[in-house]
Amino acid sequence: MDVFEAIDSRISCRWFHDKPVDPAIVKDLIVKAQRAASGGNLQSWFVYALMGEPLKEFKRIVAERIARDDPRHCKTEYAVYPEPMFGVYDERREHHGVQLYGSLGIDRKDPVARLGQFKRNFEFFNAPVALFITIDRRLGPGQWADLGGYIHALAFLARGYGLDTCPQEAWARLYDTVGAFIKIPPEQMLFCGMAIGYGNRKHKANDFRSPRAELSEFCRFYGFD
Ligand SMILES: Cc1cc2nc3c(=O)[nH]c(=O)nc-3n(C[C@H](O)[C@H](O)[C@H](O)COP(=O)(O)O)c2cc1C
Repeated sequence: MDVFEAIDSRISCRWFHDKPVDPAIVKDLIVKAQRAASGGNLQSWFVYALMGEPLKEFKRIVAERIARDDPRHCKTEYAVYPEPMFGVYDERREHHGVQLYGSLGIDRKDPVARLGQFKRNFEFFNAPVALFITIDRRLGPGQWADLGGYIHALAFLARGYGLDTCPQEAWARLYDTVGAFIKIPPEQMLFCGMAIGYGNRKHKANDFRSPRAELSEFCRFYGFD
């Protein structure tokens, strides 16, 4: 698979096959993604990887937590989205919801079904590998942006192994449960999780293509005529 195909075929995968991933591949991905660029080469990412029994145990603890607390209302350590949302960003997020829930046949006015789908985040969409990405809380916006580069390097490299991924900010809502389990030190903050596995591309959760803005909406050209 070349780089063009890796980028074009990456999706946020929300349904995985029940098929294990070779731990050596996961380690390789984590190492190779370090080639991501970062301002001043700070390499601000920190990764916690779970699979097998520890992941099973973690999911059990999380299931107990979300049976007690509605995860939509759990507080986060950082603002995942601006409050209130506005303009085109609000529209795009709304459209994303329409597309995802529409594909799954979930009525947008059905709060129980919607919550059920949101909660699948906390099963890593049944992926056999789970990552958590943290950052030293003393670092700033530049270093947070570098996390994005690392996460996308992971996602594209995963395609090279025929794997799929889903970055998951939803985990920011359970930062305390995550932190207690993987022992995140106080100076680190959880940014997101990432599900990794062999995606079921035919499943309704995965069989739509998320749209992108027109070129003219996000790029201005000078001297290209
Ligand atoms: C940092 C980050 C966090 C995300 N968090 C979630 C999440 O918690 N749950 C989820 O289902 N999708 C999550 N997504 C996936 C986005 O919804 C997805 O990238 C977007 O809709 C575009 O679709 P695509 O990735 O399939 O191209 C996240 C994506 C990124 C980059």
